[in-house]
Amino acid sequence: MIEEREIRAFLQTKIFGKKLYCFDTIDSTNTFARSLKENDAPHGTLIVADEQTGGKGRQERQWRSQKGKNLLFSLVLKPAFPQEKIRLLPFAAALASADAIEMETGCTVECKWPNDLLVARKKVAGMLIETSVQEEVVKNAILGIGINVNQTVFADDIKELATSLRLHSSKDVDRVHLLCGVLEELENRYEQLQQFPPQLLLDEWKQRATMFGTTITLVEHSSLLKATAIDVAPNGALVIEELNGARREVFAGDVTIAQR
Ligand code: BTN
Repeated sequence: MIEEREIRAFLQTKIFGKKLYCFDTIDSTNTFARSLKENDAPHGTLIVADEQTGGKGRQERQWRSQKGKNLLFSLVLKPAFPQEKIRLLPFAAALASADAIEMETGCTVECKWPNDLLVARKKVAGMLIETSVQEEVVKNAILGIGINVNQTVFADDIKELATSLRLHSSKDVDRVHLLCGVLEELENRYEQLQQFPPQLLLDEWKQRATMFGTTITLVEHSSLLKATAIDVAPNGALVIEELNGARREVFAGDVTIAQR
């Protein structure tokens, strides 16, 4: 199990992870984070688990992860910025995680809209962001991250789509080192999002995404569409060009990148 004292021994952040909850098994670290009372969850509170019995993915899916092998954690963020910047949090989180993974493992990580990370074109990590909004102001955001670290066997229905860092490294990856690296990068990216124009962040994210100019299949409100991925707009939407040449922005959906 990931122990609190191990994290405390390595973590070099200013705020993120200073308040920390570690679990052997829990339903979902995101759900636990949401259940915490205001005072029990200051900005930067971290919840880590070795196993989730009800891990949540995007679009009401499950997030399945073998016990003790991967990273499953949530961070409570008390955003000090407007709602339109919150839409860019997935990009900040994806970049932070990609950078930390590359530093720890040497694996080349690609970003896929909206917030997946791929290694060798298969999904290695996903993010689920849940926000509480009051009177158009985001009160807090729960950023949940799942990274497939040392798991080497995946269920039949996902084995063509999912991978882990271990499958691309010569040895087991140290989960605590990787977690601390992600948190340190996240803290920096969060500050970047607060202090600088968001375009800088988006430009960096785009450099890590190879989907632009390629044909994608988009699942949007349960309908399927083929299009070309053109860009990411300043508001975080995916700009696509449909087969009839019409361009439009997509705010939510699932993307499959055609064979390259
Ligand atoms: C996705 O790609 O669909 C998002 C996956 C997010 C999974 C993480 S694991 C830790 C946190 N707790 C959850 O229940 N979900 C997120």
